Amino acid sequence: MPQFTEVVNGVPIDYYEMTIESFDIALFPGHGLTSLVGYNGTAPGPTFRVENGRETVVRVLNHGNRTAAMHLHGMSSHAVWDGWAADELEIGQYKDYYYPNNEGSRTIWYHDHAERHTAVDAYEGQSGVYIIYDPAEDSLGLPSGKYDIPLCLSDKTYQDNGQLVSIEDIDLNFVGEFIQVNEQQPWPYLEVEPRKYRFRLYDMSVSRPYDLYIVDEDANWLEFQVIGSDSGLFGHPVATNDLTMAMGERYDSVVDFSGVKGRNLTFANKLQNPAIEDFENTDKVMRFVVGHEVSDDSNNSAVPDTLNANLELPRKQNSTKVDQAFNFQMGGDATWTINGVAFSDPNARVLAKPPQGAIELWELRHTGGPGVHPVHIHLVNMQIVSRSGGPRGLLPYETAGLKDTVFLQPGEVVHVLAYYGPWNGLYMFHCHNLVHEDHEMMAAFNVTRLEE
Ligand code: C2O
Ligand code: CU
Repeated sequence: MPQFTEVVNGVPIDYYEMTIESFDIALFPGHGLTSLVGYNGTAPGPTFRVENGRETVVRVLNHGNRTAAMHLHGMSSHAVWDGWAADELEIGQYKDYYYPNNEGSRTIWYHDHAERHTAVDAYEGQSGVYIIYDPAEDSLGLPSGKYDIPLCLSDKTYQDNGQLVSIEDIDLNFVGEFIQVNEQQPWPYLEVEPRKYRFRLYDMSVSRPYDLYIVDEDANWLEFQVIGSDSGLFGHPVATNDLTMAMGERYDSVVDFSGVKGRNLTFANKLQNPAIEDFENTDKVMRFVVGHEVSDDSNNSAVPDTLNANLELPRKQNSTKVDQAFNFQMGGDATWTINGVAFSDPNARVLAKPPQGAIELWELRHTGGPGVHPVHIHLVNMQIVSRSGGPRGLLPYETAGLKDTVFLQPGEVVHVLAYYGPWNGLYMFHCHNLVHEDHEMMAAFNVTRLEE
């Protein structure tokens, strides 16, 4: 799907173009059309499928109704192309974003990141899937082609006329009445064959985390394998019956429908959190209707025991010394802060200066306010080391690979270890509860260049 390819100094670079524009679609059955604002008139935006090492340039034109800043969440972008919230495109402007695609295969995503209106922009459609492939992953024989499907979860509330309920004035949390998959009409069904599928799960919601499971008509749960998360494949697959994920996180999974021929399965949600409102239908996500025939049996064998033999976890000499500690909490007046600092305060918002190449242990604490604080640190791949302060510890699929976002529920304290590189420069880290992010729960770290 690149518009064109140019060879610069012997290196091919693929060029893409995306226009932020409004469009109307039939989303709420039996009601009027819904106006969205997305990339190239679709939501989610176009799906990128790129090969590791092949560089891309994406020109983003803003023909929307607000300023825009696009962030590719999960890419180790240079700071100038990372979608810094204040680096906004005015209406009518464009920017060329350059991506090195220099890390291994992974399931990442792009979305708007403009200061103070990321939530409404993402809610109205500015997000999309970006997948990186590499030869090592290709050789594993995982389900591919039509059996490799991104499922992007979000939630919405509609007015009777079919338009979305506005979330512009919300300052605590927004959870919608309907869970949606890939911005289709609520509760879609997918006809699947009785074989293995790879589902790349995204939580693209504003404030809603999920605890997902797959259940048949007789209330039997289907076990499935989690094979990767934010920063790519795990060393080894993790079998599970349910999967907890928060906003910004991705989990890559393989589901085997071969034992449930002809059955209807529900992809369901059971997350309970006092601050996350449940509506009548937010226990269901979608349906899998399993057929009787397999049309293509390729890439349908057992998931290999070793998925990523080269998974390198960061190691630290003094492994328990916390380098930086951050409190994520509500300040007065529904302002959400990190260590009491608001992003709009340019003199205070740089909260850390890791030297380029350093491995640091950061402590992230949910110290207050209703709702959850999934923390996303730009640029890095982190190892989730510990979780304390709440009823749950670490989940096996949180530690089986590297991540860029970690889920914090009220009272929890999480330790994360990461390598601060390869580039230097100013990057954001923030709560991925987009309402909190827009109300100041965002700060910066400066990866400082080593002296020569
Ligand atoms: Cu997915 Cu800083 O964002
Ligand atoms: Cu938060």
